Amino acid sequence: MSEIAKLSYQGNEYELPVTKGTENEEAIDISKLRGQSGLITLDPGFKNTGSTKSAITFLDGEEGILRYRGYNIEDLAEKSTFLEVSYLLIYGELPTEAEYKKFTKKITKHTLVHEDIKKILDGFPSVAHPMGVLSSLICSLTAFYPNSLDPNNSKEEINLSIVRLLAKLPTFAAWAFKNKVGHPVNYPDNGLDYCSNFLKMMFALPAEKFEPDPVISKALDKLLILHADHEQNCSTSTVRVVGSSQASIYASISAGVNALWGPLHGGANQSVIEMLEAIKDDGGDSKKWLDKAKDKNDPFRLMGFGHRVYKNFDPRAKIIKKAADEVLEKLGIDDPILDIAKELEMAALQDPYFVERKLYPNVDFYSGIIYRALGIPTDMFTVMFALGRLPGWIAQWKEMRENNEPIGRPRQVYVGATERSYVPMDNR
Ligand code: ACO
Repeated sequence: MSEIAKLSYQGNEYELPVTKGTENEEAIDISKLRGQSGLITLDPGFKNTGSTKSAITFLDGEEGILRYRGYNIEDLAEKSTFLEVSYLLIYGELPTEAEYKKFTKKITKHTLVHEDIKKILDGFPSVAHPMGVLSSLICSLTAFYPNSLDPNNSKEEINLSIVRLLAKLPTFAAWAFKNKVGHPVNYPDNGLDYCSNFLKMMFALPAEKFEPDPVISKALDKLLILHADHEQNCSTSTVRVVGSSQASIYASISAGVNALWGPLHGGANQSVIEMLEAIKDDGGDSKKWLDKAKDKNDPFRLMGFGHRVYKNFDPRAKIIKKAADEVLEKLGIDDPILDIAKELEMAALQDPYFVERKLYPNVDFYSGIIYRALGIPTDMFTVMFALGRLPGWIAQWKEMRENNEPIGRPRQVYVGATERSYVPMDNR
């Protein structure tokens, strides 16, 4: 028998079923509360609201656990590849060798984009932030594949859209970068693996031979795995809500890119590097900057610190910190901002302000340092995050549609003016 929670209010008692997840998380189901009592629940920022039941990603913020489909992130980051993890997230199981080969072959086949998309790209000024360009190019796929607008797309048609997204996003991302630097775009090289192809499209110059460095490709692959899903975060919730109106998968993912862009979400990796650079240029006094972050009259926050869910440590940050050390050593790079980051982390972890509020480095605190070492420019960091998060967004969109979830439409508590008479303009 399922558990029941009771809510009493103004002499009435309401019974609310309690639902339990496979990891014993318990939630009070309030979906029928308004019908019973006229009451809604109020939870700005959805800090305490479960928006769905999902079988994709489990995370325990108190224990610092992150699992995709039951597999620990530490194992996947060490032993898997990004495309294997993508398959796992989207289809629920690790692929067999044959399934993996078929999947990667299909993705490789679809890396090229319609030549007219280059005309759209050409319309962007070089100052355009690559995240805006990326989201626009993704949304433009609705125009090139209008069939994707049909909410009744078959399983095969949806799978084709999924493959197209995974295949074309690296092309779009690299082209967004080329637009920024004013260089001609490179076309995909289907003889290369996913990350090497991306790096070649990013960095190859006309009339120069380009060999992707396997150290860099591998490091990038790991970073993408670490970003691949994170349950109902801001951008993923956006993808699900947009998709719940039966908008096309391309439009939904494009919306996710925009949600990721902000500095409080995926944009934090860019902000972290800008912050570390500013600290370095200012003489490297981490205490001064910690004081600024603690000062409630100063809008400055320690970027890359704090997380809505992790209140102990972010398991991805641990892996990334180690990877940052390894990558910089392998590439023979001595980056002073890595030292500043470590000093800042150590100082913050001993400071009562950060300890009391359970503020720890998040995934973005060290990821930017690796991207920098890999030669990826700062304003491409969030684009890299989007490349990594793509399979998660797809998996969540697919799950939401397969479960026939209702349109996302929260309620509100209205606090504005009550009814009043219209006042003609000359009487105001
Ligand atoms: N620096 C200084 N103080 C902070 C920081 C920070 N980075 N983060 C939180 N705080 C403080 C808040 O001021 C608040 O203090 P108060 O209780 O005295 O008012 C308290 O800690 C709680 O913070 P909230 O903003 O309420 O926490 P919330 O869960 O809403 O926000 C968030 C989480 C947005 C990540 C926040 O910690 C933050 O802004 N961090 C910096 C940006 C960042 O790194 N974002 C990336 C997140 S990871 C990702 O998206 C992949």
